[in-house]
Amino acid sequence: MSEVKRKDDIQGDILHEYDGIEEADNHLPLWWLVTFFGAVIFAAIYWSVYSSYGLLKPPFAEYQEEQAAIDAESGALLTDAEVAAFAADPARVTEGRAVFAQNCVVCHGERAEGKIGPNLTDGTWIHGGAAKDIFNTIRLGFAPKAMPQWGNVLGPHRTQSVAAFIISLRGTNATGGKEPQGTPYDPSAPPRLAP
Ligand code: HEC
Repeated sequence: MSEVKRKDDIQGDILHEYDGIEEADNHLPLWWLVTFFGAVIFAAIYWSVYSSYGLLKPPFAEYQEEQAAIDAESGALLTDAEVAAFAADPARVTEGRAVFAQNCVVCHGERAEGKIGPNLTDGTWIHGGAAKDIFNTIRLGFAPKAMPQWGNVLGPHRTQSVAAFIISLRGTNATGGKEPQGTPYDPSAPPRLAP
């Protein structure tokens, strides 16, 4: 044991002194020890549970799984061919017509001929005319031009149905429709927003 050089009012016994720097040797406070060993024990348990033995799924993997389920449910992962397939189902088109009448006519007109929003019956599209593009424009909207995001409002099923209805209108050219906007739909071009 080093001999005590002097007693300090605050630090207690001063044991060493080098170049004017004094050093005491006090016990660490209880709160510090509890925090430190608590952290060590927590780290060991966390590591074993999530990593070494994989007893529980790590939070990030759980998040990725939930996100994948949400994407699958919302239709985000549907391919152009899959969208085209349900769009060809007359029952979905009929259902979509009703969804359109309720939610879309204010901006796109009774016959989808265009009002504030563009004419959806011409062959030209601002955001792409492939089945998947039309579905995605409806699902995600286009906020900068006030086209609402319908995916969350209508839910996955009705969003798909209204997309089926719009796809069925492609190139039907409603009389008295708004002037074409965007570029003509080219069936040989890949969708712009493919997953
Ligand atoms: C508040 C007005 C408003 C409502 C309601 C609305 N839209 Fe739109 N929509 C717009 C506007 C504005 C655009 C043009 C966006 C742009 O210029 O980029 C648009 C664009 C679109 C496009 C893309 C057209 C293109 O040329 O690429 C589709 C498809 C579409 N809307 C479908 C729908 C459907 C389906 C509904 C109902 C579920 C709907 N919209 C409801 C305003 C609206």
